[in-house]
Amino acid sequence: MTKRIAVIPGDGIGPEVIDAGMRVLERVNDEHRLGLEFTHFTWSADEYLRTGVSMPPGAMEDIRDHYAAVYLGAFGDPRVPDMKHAADILLGMRFQLDLYVNYRPVKLLDERLCPLKGKGVAEIDFVIFRENTEGAYVGMGGAFKKGTAEEVAVQEDVSTRKGVERIIRYAFEYAKRTGRKSVCMSDKSNVMRFGGDLWVRTFEEVGREYPGIEHFHMFVDALTMQMVRAPEMFDVIVTNNMFGDIVTDLGAALQGGLGVAASGNIHPGRVSLFEPIHGSAPKYAGKDTANPIGAILTAAMMLEYLGFYEECSLIERAVTSAILDHETTKDLGGSLGTRAAGEAILKRLG
Ligand code: IPM
Ligand code: MN
Repeated sequence: MTKRIAVIPGDGIGPEVIDAGMRVLERVNDEHRLGLEFTHFTWSADEYLRTGVSMPPGAMEDIRDHYAAVYLGAFGDPRVPDMKHAADILLGMRFQLDLYVNYRPVKLLDERLCPLKGKGVAEIDFVIFRENTEGAYVGMGGAFKKGTAEEVAVQEDVSTRKGVERIIRYAFEYAKRTGRKSVCMSDKSNVMRFGGDLWVRTFEEVGREYPGIEHFHMFVDALTMQMVRAPEMFDVIVTNNMFGDIVTDLGAALQGGLGVAASGNIHPGRVSLFEPIHGSAPKYAGKDTANPIGAILTAAMMLEYLGFYEECSLIERAVTSAILDHETTKDLGGSLGTRAAGEAILKRLG
């Protein structure tokens, strides 16, 4: 059975890292006869500036109805300071395709990459689930008396019972499926009383349905401290959209930096979107210096989502081996460019 994949390289270093990821995907697809069929889309800042259109009419429906997954590089370009095209495409897909799970594993692959003293691969291995369709990202609010000394700005933070319950439930289901011991819910309910109350109550109610899994609550300020001080205490963390955005950058740093971190924007059973956590890094675009590992591990995560478990671990093992042999880009202590670092992984696929 054919599965169609939409490939959107995007801006900055996006095209380079997606190119490396595509070599891996194409190799695995051919040799293991996965039946994946790739369609490339050139939506980007360049195209937006040229045409004034971020995503052509009907494109979102086309992706929703005809694709199994989206493989995306990065968006962001200094020539589009308001990030309009990024908001339309990336946040557009998260919202319109209802990709409510933002899945961001934090797994250290080599002791050498860990910035924490006395911590290693045994301590840094957990998963963060970030709610991905509401919170502060809904864009609700407004401005009053803008540009005057009395200016007022209101930015709403929206939580719904449905939205909170489904991400919390997903975190528990994941813990159950993968044999993780605990789920930690993190918020700021001591200050954000209304949304916090909804999160706390829902977490307690859902948690009771999973007696085999320990569950505990932690304020998000304390969470950032404990992620650095004692990362081994975490198995699965679930949190809202904004806190999830922030703590997953911290998580990326714990596993060796933004260059290696992968993420999935998922609606179980529907078309889902996979992207490295790093941004478009315009400064490094076209220089053959960007680390392709984030994009390659993202490709592996996409294969796992599509049910190709063996191929996912094959790629993960190849990445780990290249890291252990120092055949990486400079950010990980190697001396290779983007292309060569991708080749180093490719040749380890057997
Ligand atoms: C991320 C990014 C995005 C976000 C930006 C690019 C809108 O930081 O995926 O973490 O804030 O969600
Ligand atoms: Mn972010």
